[in-house]
Amino acid sequence: MKDIEFSFEDAIVSQHVISETAERLRPEIKNMATAISEGYESDLASLFLPDDRLMLGKVRQVISENLQLKPAYLIVIGIGGSNLGTIAVQEAVQGKLYNQLTAAPKVLYADTVDSDSINNIIMLVKPVLEKGGNILLNVISKSGTTTETIANAEVLIDLLRRHKKDYKKCITVTSDKDSELWNIAVKEGINVLEIPKKVGGRYSVFSPVGLFPLGLLGIDIERLLDGARAMRDACFDVNVEENPAAICATLQYLHYKSGRNICDLFLFANDLESLGKWYRQLMAESIGKEFNKKGERVNVGMTPTVSIGSTDLHSMAQLYLGGPYDKFTTFVGIKNSRSRLKVPSVEGYSDLVPEIHGKSLMDIMDATLEGTKAAFRSGKRPFIEITLPDKSEYSVGQMLQLKMLETIYLGKLLDLNPFDQPNVESYKKETRKLLAEQN
Ligand code: PA5
Repeated sequence: MKDIEFSFEDAIVSQHVISETAERLRPEIKNMATAISEGYESDLASLFLPDDRLMLGKVRQVISENLQLKPAYLIVIGIGGSNLGTIAVQEAVQGKLYNQLTAAPKVLYADTVDSDSINNIIMLVKPVLEKGGNILLNVISKSGTTTETIANAEVLIDLLRRHKKDYKKCITVTSDKDSELWNIAVKEGINVLEIPKKVGGRYSVFSPVGLFPLGLLGIDIERLLDGARAMRDACFDVNVEENPAAICATLQYLHYKSGRNICDLFLFANDLESLGKWYRQLMAESIGKEFNKKGERVNVGMTPTVSIGSTDLHSMAQLYLGGPYDKFTTFVGIKNSRSRLKVPSVEGYSDLVPEIHGKSLMDIMDATLEGTKAAFRSGKRPFIEITLPDKSEYSVGQMLQLKMLETIYLGKLLDLNPFDQPNVESYKKETRKLLAEQN
């Protein structure tokens, strides 16, 4: 079992200031263990998910029922907190080209109400249905009333119904118990999986929201949860200097206070791009707040950005190294990739970049990361580095849990509620009002 490694040496904050600020988190960290003993009752409910064997058993049972249908496709219908975690883990572990490399079940994501995207999904799965094959729908909505999710679900359920008499067994609904969607599914005899009430969307990847589709696609969800549990326990360390989430949160906080209000997650792995997008939501919705816990208007927030190494060095590096000092960067590297391709010597090309011959692509990527860090260092651009041993379920589980705890601690330092999203709710209501007026 290998763990994630951290390097805080280039954060450009003195150890003394880090320790002094992180100390403020100690009372919160002490509360954590107690909160876990309350299971799903406390606001920290999501931290109990890696321990919930009952939930895992239920998810596994529904997965095995669904796999008996020998599905050609799984369509995950959900948006924001209801699909970003799944995409993050699935692409990290299986790679972005999973569908092209796998016979079945392939996965498709229906999130926004883009008519052409949904139509493309229909064009892919319709031939399967016409030949009598099976596709699965997993409709995921915590509230059960998200406009995009319900619109897409109705379109795809309708397609299924037109091709299959017993279509209901191909649907699984994941929602809050007793949401309107949940109640309809139960009435229709459709499989339901419960999202614990106090587990918010962006903290729900280790609930059936993520576990069901991921397990169905062959991802080792037990190892994912093992990784989450190990990182959670490491981030419960009251000795804050040894607690990675506390230190990461403290550094984000201190840099924000010094005017660096952009935090860039710079991932040196193509397949982690969606993990970056998952984190963007986590940071933006949890920390971007109009009011603090005392009800005072604060309009706080850091803008999370995602960069991919080395791709974005060819588009963003000028800004990062020459532009304003408004960013704090977290580099993420991978120690072991799934493959080890080498650059061969191809006649006629050998002199173009002679340094690369005989090197693996991983060596070149590592050198690029080291070179980028050196440039940041000499330009006095603050950064930290997180190194994942690999892109296994265990490592990805650790990474996601780290980021969730970091966000909770950052909320504490900023005196914010990291679990609500009142302004998201307001735009949802306005959209529905407008649609109702068009009737
Ligand atoms: O974090 C959040 O609350 C949002 O991003 C939601 O996850 C998103 O709006 C989807 O909501 P629901 O799961 O209720 O359909």
